[in-house]
Amino acid sequence: MPAASVRIAPSLLSADFGRLADDLAMLEAAGADWLHVDVMDGVFVPNLTFGAKVIETCKRLTRLPLDCHLMVVEPEKYFDAFAQAGADTITVHVETAPHLHRQLMRIKELGVKAGATLNPSTSLETVREVAADLDLLLIMSVNPGFGGQRFIPASVEKVARARQLLDATGSRAVLEVDGGISRETITACWRAGADTFVAGNAIFSASDPVAEVAALRARCTEQA
Ligand code: DX5
Ligand code: ZN
Repeated sequence: MPAASVRIAPSLLSADFGRLADDLAMLEAAGADWLHVDVMDGVFVPNLTFGAKVIETCKRLTRLPLDCHLMVVEPEKYFDAFAQAGADTITVHVETAPHLHRQLMRIKELGVKAGATLNPSTSLETVREVAADLDLLLIMSVNPGFGGQRFIPASVEKVARARQLLDATGSRAVLEVDGGISRETITACWRAGADTFVAGNAIFSASDPVAEVAALRARCTEQA
C-alpha cells in the first residue's frame, strides 16, 4: 500500500474543550487527515460525550472531515441530525445494529459515508455479508468508552483478518483502528493492513502534539 494512504485521525475526546478552536487549528496545521468524533450515550458505553451540536460546531471550526463514531443504542435515531450537522462519515457498532444493511443504506442516502465497527469481542463474520457496502470498517483495539486505555495486542491479528476479508470480498472500505494507538502500536497495525489510525491520548498528551501527528505517520511510512 502506498505510504500516502496513511490517515491520522485525532480523537476529539482528548481535546481541550476550553480551547476547542485552537486545538482544531493545531490539528489542521499538524497535517491531521480526519477528526474522529466519539459519540457516547451512557447506555451502550459507560460514558457520555456529545451530539449534533458539537458536530455542527466542529464543522464550523475545521475543514477536517468529521469521522463520527457512534457508541449509542438505536444509532438510526441520530443519522438525520448528524448528517445535517456535517458528519462526513457515520460509523455504527454492529452490536447495536440488527439491521445493519438497512442502516448503512440510510446513512448513504443522506450523502454520508457509512461505516461499521466491532468491539474487541465481536467476530468479523458480523460484517462479511455487508463488506462490499462499507465505506469504512473500524476495528476497536480497546473496549469502547474512554480514551487513554491500553491497546489490546490481539487486535493486530484481527486487523490482518479484516484486511483479508475486505480484499476477498472486493470491498474498498477504509480500514481504521481505534484505541491505544501510539508510536509503539501503530506500526504493527499498519503492517497488518490498516490505513487509518485514531489517536487521542498519544497526540493530546504529547509535549508537542504537532510533532506527534508526524511521528505517528512516520511510524508507518518509514517502516513500510
Ligand atoms: C474509545 C474511543 C476512542 C478514543 C481513543 O471509546 O472510541 O476513539 O478516543 O483514544 P486513545 O487514542 O486515547 O485510546
Ligand atoms: Zn472512537
